[in-house]
Amino acid sequence: MKYYALPPYKNKAVEFISLISREDRERAIKDAGYNTFLLKSKDVFIDFLTDSGTSAMSDRQWAGIMLGDEAYAGSENFYHLEDAVKDVFGYPYLVPTHQGRGAEHIMAQVLIGGRGGFIPNNLYFTTSRLHQEIAGGTWLDVSIPEASDPKSTCPFKGNIDVAKLETYIKEKGPESIPFVRMEASVNMAGGQPFSMENERAVSALCKKHGIFLLLDATRIVENAHFIREREEKYKSWSLKKIVRMMCAFSDGCTMSSKKDHYVNIGGFLATVRKDVFERARALVVVYEGLHTYGGMAGRDMEALSIGIKESVENEELVAHYVGQVSVLAKMLRDRGIPLCEPPGAHAVFLDAKQFLPHLSQSEFPAQTLASELYIEGGVRTMERGIVSGQHGSEPYDGLEFVRLAIPRRVYELAHLMYVADVVETAWRRRSHIRGLAMVYEPKDLRFFQARFEKK
Ligand code: F0G
Repeated sequence: MKYYALPPYKNKAVEFISLISREDRERAIKDAGYNTFLLKSKDVFIDFLTDSGTSAMSDRQWAGIMLGDEAYAGSENFYHLEDAVKDVFGYPYLVPTHQGRGAEHIMAQVLIGGRGGFIPNNLYFTTSRLHQEIAGGTWLDVSIPEASDPKSTCPFKGNIDVAKLETYIKEKGPESIPFVRMEASVNMAGGQPFSMENERAVSALCKKHGIFLLLDATRIVENAHFIREREEKYKSWSLKKIVRMMCAFSDGCTMSSKKDHYVNIGGFLATVRKDVFERARALVVVYEGLHTYGGMAGRDMEALSIGIKESVENEELVAHYVGQVSVLAKMLRDRGIPLCEPPGAHAVFLDAKQFLPHLSQSEFPAQTLASELYIEGGVRTMERGIVSGQHGSEPYDGLEFVRLAIPRRVYELAHLMYVADVVETAWRRRSHIRGLAMVYEPKDLRFFQARFEKK
């Protein structure tokens, strides 16, 4: 494979970045409690913390920003958004929210609503799981074992273990399963897709038992791209047609538009179920804003509806983006650096357990590595291991990743080459890297604000 993925765009505006000295970086990360979430953005050179809300908008989206109709009710931009959602995803009912977790909150309240029950998920996402629990539900894992094996090259690590799901349905009874959540391009497994065949089987099982199938459609376009590459039957399908079919198998979705739709803020829930929609519409006004803006400004809804269309209609954008991820993975693999394979949708995941084998999990290898990459070259990444994964006092012996998430349409090949060099430099001095001790632990979603000290 080549070391480049050609961008199907050119720059129209640029933002300046600069690398502060090593001494300043050491001070900044110490002040941030060795937590990359607590760094100031001005102290970061290459920001691979997340692909969420960090995309560059297109000239068309910026033009849309000027067309904001900021009326409190019935904004014109809402109707454009509704049309885009119907056209691309096919759901007739839409409730806008300020971002993905707003949609998760409302969906969990509507579908669980304090009645309890068990929610099978293909692995978890941090905010999705917490919203299920806040609404009174219990998260269940129905991911396949390959999802938790960084060395497995299974092409569809995001699949649901259908037999396991069936067993849970039998054991718990369908009436105690408010919904099944199926995430596209499973973030915590490395951005790994599920297959259409798997979704079809999950959908049939849910239909048979009258269980709502909720799609987390956040990175659906990349998942559709992988379906086309890896499932023979869809080789000649357009991305739009694949996305439509993925949605058609579900009863509804939650969406963080801050990823696939190239906007800095925005999200929604959408469904085919009128009853679910009506309850969600009643709740959105309490938590987000009126049902025709849901926490977004009119201009944001306009940029979003344009972004939704761009995400499926300009197929080269998706190929380029996923190409950037695999190019960075190749550069790192060629340097002998342990990665989660195969590279997924939105990020390269370094395997911190193999990178720092002398550190035990209680010394936070992924948190340590993320802070070292910042010290080494001002590269900001994110811990996706025991700090993000452990929930309350439950034991954790899972994945220990550092995520290098690539913002869409922002960085160039030279930036990726620089990042690969930074990781390699840290790799060469890995045996001298000391672990961390946690000195402050918030109760929920501790990875955002936890603080650490060098051991
Ligand atoms: N679902 C998935 C799969 C996500 O990756 C995210 C966010 C959300 C839901 C929540 O959406 O942030 O708009 O409220 N992921 C970001 C990330 C934060 O960095 O992976 P949100």
